[in-house]
Amino acid sequence: MSLLITNIGELFTNDAHGRELAHDAAVVVDGDRIAWVGPATGAPAADERIDAGGAAVLPGFVDSHAHLMFAGDRAAEFAARMAGEAYTGGGIRTTVGATRAATDEQLRHNARRLVGEALRQGTTTIEIKSGYGLNVADEARSLRIAAEFTAETTFLGAHVVPAEFQDRPDDYVSLVCGPMLALAAPHAKWVDAFVERGAFDEDRARTILLAGKEMGLGVRVHGNQLGPGPGVQLAVELDAASVDHCTHLSDADVDALAASGADCMCHDGSGRTVATLLPGAEFSTRSPYPDARRLLDAGVTVALATDCNPGSSYTSSMSFCIALAVREMRMTPAEAVRAATLGGARALRRDDLGVIRPGARADLLILDAPSHLHLAYRPGVPLIRDVIHGGRPST
Ligand code: NIG
Ligand code: FE
Repeated sequence: MSLLITNIGELFTNDAHGRELAHDAAVVVDGDRIAWVGPATGAPAADERIDAGGAAVLPGFVDSHAHLMFAGDRAAEFAARMAGEAYTGGGIRTTVGATRAATDEQLRHNARRLVGEALRQGTTTIEIKSGYGLNVADEARSLRIAAEFTAETTFLGAHVVPAEFQDRPDDYVSLVCGPMLALAAPHAKWVDAFVERGAFDEDRARTILLAGKEMGLGVRVHGNQLGPGPGVQLAVELDAASVDHCTHLSDADVDALAASGADCMCHDGSGRTVATLLPGAEFSTRSPYPDARRLLDAGVTVALATDCNPGSSYTSSMSFCIALAVREMRMTPAEAVRAATLGGARALRRDDLGVIRPGARADLLILDAPSHLHLAYRPGVPLIRDVIHGGRPST
C-alpha cells in the first residue's frame, strides 16, 4: 500500500542537510516507511493520493516524556496553585493512592484516552512512564499496560519514596533495585529517577539507575526541576539519553550537556545527552521557564515534551509546548518544531523518527496552515489537519 502526498507548501524535513522544501513538494510513503521525498514533478506513482492543498507537512510529534499510567486527577491542587500555593511534588502521593485503587481496565482506559487525545493532536510517538504504583505489583502492571500502547516504556519506581517507606528510604531503594525492577524490566525499555530534594538524592538515584542499566534498560533522568541539583551531572555520567526539566542549571551543567558523548563515534557536534524541556510543567506550576537559548547556543541537543501527568502538567498538546517555548524560552519557531520532532527522537535514541527522509517511519502531519510558523503564531488553535501514522491516515 503506497501513498503520495502532493501539493505540499512547506516540507519541514529535519534532514541532515537542513534542507526544507518549499512550493509543491511531495512525499511518497510505502507501507509504514517514507519511500521518496522531492519536488512534485519527479514523484513516482502510488496507490493513493492526498492533496495537501499548499499546507505545511512535518514529521509527527515525538513526545518523549509522559506519565500516563495513573487514575484520578488533581484539579483542586491546580486551583490552589493558581491561588498562590507552591508546587512541591507532594501531590504525587495522592495519585499513587488513586492508581493503586484502580482496576487494570480503568488504568488501560485512561491511558487509551490520553494516547488517542495526543494522536489527534499530532503525537505519533509517545513515551509512557510508570511511577504512580510505587510497589512491586502496581509498578509491574503499570508497565505491562503501558507496553500495550508504546514501545517507549519507562520504569519510574524512583518517582518518590512512598508513604509506607517514609522513614526508611534505603529499604525502598532495595525494593526498587530488587523485586520491583525484576518484574518491571521485562515491560520497560528505560529506567528513570526523580533526582530532586524531597525525592531521590544523587547516591540513591545512581544506585537505582545503575541497577536498571545492568538489566539492559536505557537511562533517563528527571533533574533540576525545582532547584539546582546533581541530576544533570548524574545523567551525563551515566550516558543517559535525556535529562528532563533542566529548569535550574549551572554553567557547569550546560557545559556537561554540550560536551556529552564527545568521546563517542556517534558524536555529531551537539550533546548526546538531550536536555528535554517541559514547559507545560512551568505553565501549570506557575514557575519560571527554562532558558532554551542558553542551551542551544552552547551546543546542547534540546527536546520539547509535554510531561503529561495529573499533577504538574496535564496537557497532551505538543503544539501548546511549542508555543510556550517560542514565547517564553527564546526558541525560534523552527527550533521549537525541531525539538518537538527530531529532538524527541534523539531523546529516545531513535534515528527512524522525527525526520522526513526515505527509510524513516511514515509519521507525518499535514497542518491547517501554510507553514510551521503558525504552530506558535496561532497558539491554542487546532492546526493538525491530518495525521499519517505508520503510513496510514489515522481517524
Ligand atoms: O515530571 N517531577 C516529577 N514528576 C512529575 C510530576 C508528577 C506529579 O506531580 O504527579 C513531573 O513533573
Ligand atoms: Fe515528568
